[in-house]
Amino acid sequence: MKKYNILLDADKMPDAWYNIMPDMPGQMPPPLHPGTRQPCGPEDLAPIFPMPLIEQEVSTEQFISIPGEVMDVYRLWRPTPLRRAYRLEEALGTPAKIYYKNESVSPSGSHKINTSVAQAYYNKVSGINELTTETGAGQWGTALSIACSFFDMKCTVYMVKVSFEQKPYRRSLMESYGAQVFASPSDNTDIGRKMAADNPGTTGSLGMAISEAVEAAVKSGGSIKYSLGSVLNHVLLHQSIIGEEAKLQMDSVGDYPDIIIGCCGGGSNYAGLAFPFAHDKLKQGKDIDFVAVEPTACPTLTRGPYAYDFGDTGEMTPLLPQYTLGHNFVPPGIHAGGLRYHGVASQLAHLVKEGVMRAVAYHQNPCFESALLFAKCEGIIPAPETSHAIRAAVDAALKCKESGESKTILFNFSGHGHFDMTAYQAYLGQQLEDYELDQEILDKGIASIPQVDFPG
Ligand SMILES: Cc1ncc(COP(=O)(O)O)c(C=O)c1O
Repeated sequence: MKKYNILLDADKMPDAWYNIMPDMPGQMPPPLHPGTRQPCGPEDLAPIFPMPLIEQEVSTEQFISIPGEVMDVYRLWRPTPLRRAYRLEEALGTPAKIYYKNESVSPSGSHKINTSVAQAYYNKVSGINELTTETGAGQWGTALSIACSFFDMKCTVYMVKVSFEQKPYRRSLMESYGAQVFASPSDNTDIGRKMAADNPGTTGSLGMAISEAVEAAVKSGGSIKYSLGSVLNHVLLHQSIIGEEAKLQMDSVGDYPDIIIGCCGGGSNYAGLAFPFAHDKLKQGKDIDFVAVEPTACPTLTRGPYAYDFGDTGEMTPLLPQYTLGHNFVPPGIHAGGLRYHGVASQLAHLVKEGVMRAVAYHQNPCFESALLFAKCEGIIPAPETSHAIRAAVDAALKCKESGESKTILFNFSGHGHFDMTAYQAYLGQQLEDYELDQEILDKGIASIPQVDFPG
């Protein structure tokens, strides 16, 4: 009998997160203070994050225990299923084996809640009762809204304007959990008003929304903290539970991935799946092809330079070593709002720079095409972000069909698309545009990258 669903017993759920820092090849450059341009210390992050998260941000411990209170919440939906996509394999006629880790079964519908629960918990035990954040597609804002309601906290969300308009039910969803939601750039913050005045008619961007949320936290004088849904080390750490579970599940069916694929916005879902396997490549020499997939409309890893840049448009965050299109770059309004980010996580950027991982980029139309094939075979409507991973998995499987190789492909099904039906409607109505970015447009964004030398 075919085993479609590879489940992990609840008592086998890992109880510590995997931290890739001790395994990192070469020297990863430190984040720099935006003013002094000297390496950032924990005290520089204290105005916006609670100390336990700052400690995780700089930790070099290989494993960090997951608190019991967080484990209890995780148990509402974890361990998530690993699925063998037999029906997709058959439809493609490929000898490849395709597996996907289904993070869409969470209450918020995506992987984002793996870190929002942890972040809300650490803030709560640090005496914080209110969090502020940004959201692109609305998946992260939803995840933080749910986490804040679990821990009885207030939540304010700055939602990128184009997504606020494209996805009205996402807003209602966040409000249902008690969050307050503003379209960004908004009138609420100094930086929001300035960005709106400087960019009339702007669609907004994650970089702008982050600046607004950070300003709200900084100006609260300590009562409100900021929470980020991707990019930072502690976020990637919390997501490692995805890959840790997947390793146990692959092992339980006697298989191991040759290719590991995930869509990449800030890098958290991909890192979450990939990093625990990257340990095997870095420490045991396993031969794994790691592929991060981004949109052609926001080609951070494939066309951006490796440089120090701000994480936000308003230049409030530390300078992070990363691939970047420039913190002023505003990507076209593709439907994968969660992938519209000018930069990427430093840890992932470092692994790409070191040649441990690689990146590819796809236009949105071929991604939606593969998403619908997937939906018809496997039954789940993917989030537009997730459709990028599916496209790359489909292409890898078709390559195996050509070569006759039976490779094992594993990808992260980061979220479902139940609140993204306007996007599917537009695709079905052939109204989706594929944006080919001229180098001239990219150069404008890249010109906003500050001139900062790497230490040493
Ligand atoms: C479903 C889904 N997948 C992927 C992403 C991209 O973020 P990250 O690269 O941090 O996983 C998002 C971000 O909003 C998302 O909602």
